[in-house]
Amino acid sequence: MEIRSTTEKDLDVFVDTVHAAFGRFPETPAEDGGGLWWSAIEPERCLLAETAEGRPVGTAGAYSFELTLPGGALTPVSGVSFVGVLPTHRRQGVLTAMMRRQLADLRARGEFLSVLLASEASIYGRFGYGPATYTGRLTVPRHRAVLAAPRAGGTDTGSVEVLRRADCRDLLEELYDRYRRARPGALSRPHRWWALNAGQPPVSAAPRYIVLHRDADGTPDGYASYSLDGGTLMVDETIAVDDAVTSALSRVLLGHDLVDQVVFKHFTAEHPLRWQLADFGAAQVGNSTEWLWVRLLDVPRALTARGWSADGELVLDVDDPFLGERARHLLTVRGGEATCVPTDREPDLSLDVRDLGAVYLGGTPVSTLVRAGHVRAHRPEAAALADALFRTERPPHCLSWF
Ligand SMILES: CC(C)(COP(=O)(O)OP(=O)(O)OC[C@H]1O[C@@H](n2cnc3c(N)ncnc32)[C@H](O)[C@@H]1OP(=O)(O)O)[C@@H](O)C(=O)NCCC(=O)NCCS
Repeated sequence: MEIRSTTEKDLDVFVDTVHAAFGRFPETPAEDGGGLWWSAIEPERCLLAETAEGRPVGTAGAYSFELTLPGGALTPVSGVSFVGVLPTHRRQGVLTAMMRRQLADLRARGEFLSVLLASEASIYGRFGYGPATYTGRLTVPRHRAVLAAPRAGGTDTGSVEVLRRADCRDLLEELYDRYRRARPGALSRPHRWWALNAGQPPVSAAPRYIVLHRDADGTPDGYASYSLDGGTLMVDETIAVDDAVTSALSRVLLGHDLVDQVVFKHFTAEHPLRWQLADFGAAQVGNSTEWLWVRLLDVPRALTARGWSADGELVLDVDDPFLGERARHLLTVRGGEATCVPTDREPDLSLDVRDLGAVYLGGTPVSTLVRAGHVRAHRPEAAALADALFRTERPPHCLSWF
């Protein structure tokens, strides 16, 4: 078996092989707006696994994104996607070989983080990825969707209007970009996706309505995209500069007529909406799942790139069994910034690189993984100190699908 990079010429065979691996046929124009998703592929970042006879049996690829880190730094990351192996060639190490090649390629590009969304949570831990952000859906039956007046006061002085997505693409691109720069865990959306009219989940040209919010001066400062299917108003995403704008958008969505229920996708546990309902029990949170998986390719660079929420010092013994690497790092945080140097001091924590990926964005407390038996704390205070260091003001959140 050989693994090779693809070029534009391989696009058809690449697309066919991914589809066969997933057991699907290429989308018809009606379903996918003419294969927009595939138009967004970066062929030079894709890999094909071929048999000795040159038959394609496996695929893997990556998008070029920017990820917002705790503290606000933006860093280039690879968004791994298009991973598939034909049913006839599974469990023979094809994916393992592609992952090995891909991680080497990403390091050669100078990247220190890789991210992905997993079709099954059992696949990627062995390759050093850990679940770093979480998501869910909030369902509110329309007849119980009454919002309480805010007890601390505050009224919205802005305005809202309903638009069609296709008519306000540039505005959405601008607003999304502002939002994602301020939210740890968020990914950039390449301009070419927006230009394809594919910049929003789902990555397709399916029509969407947009509620656009403007501030008192008329400047756009948030939007929600939605569609109505049967009696369900499905809200793909709410993108806003602050909570007051989010609330104003929720008010419009929950007030929609001819609707049985409103479903907010990409809902996070700390979202204030349940508290804003007059009846706390009206809303149901479901489909809770892990979302963005993170893999560190260079531990010192990754740890010094993010911002930190407390001062302290920790010795981390990090094992990377997939790449056959093990190293001990002294992490020192002062005033929100870290240094990370090799050390031979006794470790405070011993952990697998997949667990470092899970806690890296601050979405999973280190102490949870200690309690789960995955991270070893060599002294009792180490887990609490790690929690204080790694935590973020708000949990990291990613609402991209790729
Ligand atoms: C997931 C997939 C790519 C795995 O490819 P593969 O070539 O069979 O994987 P490998 O042979 O390299 O497997 C490596 C290890 O991972 C395990 N593994 C692979 N896929 C797994 C899965 N879906 N669930 C649990 N374990 C899995 C294998 O059992 C093997 O374990 P071992 O080393 O202990 O024997 C393939 O099954 C597939 O194409 N599935 C459908 C499409 C899909 O879900 N793609 C992922 C999109 S995110």
